[in-house]
Amino acid sequence: MFMHRMLPTARADAARWIRAAVAIISSALIAGCKLDVTELWRIDGHQSTLVTAGPVAAEQSHLFMLTVWVTLTIFVVVGSTLAYATLKFRARTADDEHAEPPSQGHGNPLIELGLIAASVGALVIIAVPTLRAIWYTYDVPVAQKNNVFEVNATGYQWWFRFEYPTEQATVTGSQKMPLAVANELVIPAGRPIRINLRTMDVIHSFWIPKLAGKVDMIPNRANFLWLEADKPGYFWGQCAEYCGDSHAVMRFRVIALPQKEFYAWLDEQTKPARNVAPQTGDRNAPKAQFASLRSPDDFGQNEKGISNRFEVSPLEAWRAQQMPDKGEDAALVAKGKATFQAKTCLACHTVRGHGAAGVTAPDLTHFGARTTLAAGLLENNPEQLRRWIHNPGAVKPGNKMAKGFIDNHIQLSADDELALVAYLESLK
Ligand code: CUA
Repeated sequence: MFMHRMLPTARADAARWIRAAVAIISSALIAGCKLDVTELWRIDGHQSTLVTAGPVAAEQSHLFMLTVWVTLTIFVVVGSTLAYATLKFRARTADDEHAEPPSQGHGNPLIELGLIAASVGALVIIAVPTLRAIWYTYDVPVAQKNNVFEVNATGYQWWFRFEYPTEQATVTGSQKMPLAVANELVIPAGRPIRINLRTMDVIHSFWIPKLAGKVDMIPNRANFLWLEADKPGYFWGQCAEYCGDSHAVMRFRVIALPQKEFYAWLDEQTKPARNVAPQTGDRNAPKAQFASLRSPDDFGQNEKGISNRFEVSPLEAWRAQQMPDKGEDAALVAKGKATFQAKTCLACHTVRGHGAAGVTAPDLTHFGARTTLAAGLLENNPEQLRRWIHNPGAVKPGNKMAKGFIDNHIQLSADDELALVAYLESLK
């Protein structure tokens, strides 16, 4: 609306700036940033904090939006006043440049008091809901304390261990230990979950954008948070505190299930690792399945390891993952189990019931039933699993398994890899 009153030079300037901006943006797009423009205004992505799925995240989102509206109002009022004054009192001609400044005012008590009152008002509007949100999100509301489900989450470089302290899992016979899983936290929906946050090494931060967060996992400090999922769902989590080489790929998932399905899952998880029954039926089916795998050397350094099928209906993918594969090759699985021991994988990983009791790496007792591997980075399927064990350092720089392979001179042949893949995928 001011364009027709602009000086010709100012108009030319504006046009130049617009042309430059268009040129930069379009060349960035053409240069192959692979920037999907629709992504720019999407607010419902997997890690959106604006489209929430639980009361804690909703409270945080409301507070954020309230602050946005208050500050936006201040911006519009101050910005438009500034724009008005700049345009109205600007120098229009060469003579204006040398004109005497207009008479200067020296304070207006009414305006000054009004501005102080408006500032205090804006602060109160933000402060009261902030305090309420801090109170609410800090711990489970008293009225719901009896219904709380408690889990422990521990951060490691670069993965998460989730322990269910109230659930005893069978090792062998009557030998039990608390149930622990890795990187996929399964919870009952519609129930408050209290998560005790610990770390084994450096500071991590626990964040599930659609549910709750962020709260740091700090050495020697007993932090916790609570969250609740309104409905069954599948949620993306992320370490939100820089913690070393692979911080950006330190991810996890939260799967919220209906109460009954959750307890059925717990029952399955507390059982020791599965043993594959001797082969029946078509003996060539598994070999055909492995023959079609993409070579692990074909994957690019940062190539995505999650399929679109999985991104679109993750909870269904999770449910499908609980079922054993058809046509497992029992001989190959047995070879994989022996390789797991021979290559000393068991020194770091636990597989309850299979004689593996390492504690420094993820528990793999029911590994095959998870949807992801390498801490939520790759989809759990034979192709991605082989990519991971073939060269873990290429997928997740600096990780302990890659270092362990080198330090302990562990070399896996192509056959070893396939056997390990068959074995690990059989651990449903
Ligand atoms: Cu753990 Cu960043």
